[in-house]
Amino acid sequence: MKYIPALNLGWLTPLYDPVMLLMRESTFKRTLVEQANIKNGYRVLDIGCGTATLTILIKKAYPGAEVTGLDGDPKILEIAKAKVEKAGLDIALDPGMSFELPYPDHSFDRVFSSLVFHHLTRENKARTFKEIFRVLRSGGELHVADFGKPHNALMYLISLIFRHLEETRDNINGLLPEMFQNAGFERVEETDRFMTPFGTLSLYRARKAL
Ligand SMILES: C[S@@+](CC[C@H](N)C(=O)[O-])C[C@H]1O[C@@H](n2cnc3c(N)ncnc32)[C@H](O)[C@@H]1O
Repeated sequence: MKYIPALNLGWLTPLYDPVMLLMRESTFKRTLVEQANIKNGYRVLDIGCGTATLTILIKKAYPGAEVTGLDGDPKILEIAKAKVEKAGLDIALDPGMSFELPYPDHSFDRVFSSLVFHHLTRENKARTFKEIFRVLRSGGELHVADFGKPHNALMYLISLIFRHLEETRDNINGLLPEMFQNAGFERVEETDRFMTPFGTLSLYRARKAL
């Protein structure tokens, strides 16, 4: 099974948070959280939570929500655990694979995922979207931040390099929205785009029908 850790090579994982500063992380993650319209009591899942920066942001913004982070890499979950403890927050952190989610059907009101899909092969992207659809309740929403179709000439030039790295090609070809729809999602939209040194970062929203 192909598994790509946070910075591609496992030994680079401790450098993940400093590298993320280059990605305008706080801006795009804040926008992603704001667009999700989370209410008190909502059950929220962050898939591929990594060092839990987004997971912590969600819990701080919505203390009344029940927040869970999931990641397939036990090493990065250790970093996440230390950050969550330091912040004094009640967040569940679970080991697990995005394409075999260890939760019953209809368990969550919102599912987030940031910078994970470009780590997954096309087959695992499709399996993951189906799993997300399964664990969301009817009317629940998926909120994704990941590399998307280049939106200007500079981002296009950068994409010529980055389309060859990890599993980024389908993202850059703009295929994620179509893949959400194939998994059963409706009202699929790209809600925002950001320039980053690694190419266009797109935010998406999709809904499981009521
Ligand atoms: C680039 S990091 C993003 C971390 C975090 N979401 C963020 O935005 O900072 C990608 C994360 O996805 C995790 N990951 C990759 N493939 C996965 C899979 N199939 N299931 C669960 N986690 C996965 C990696 O271990 C890593 O922590």
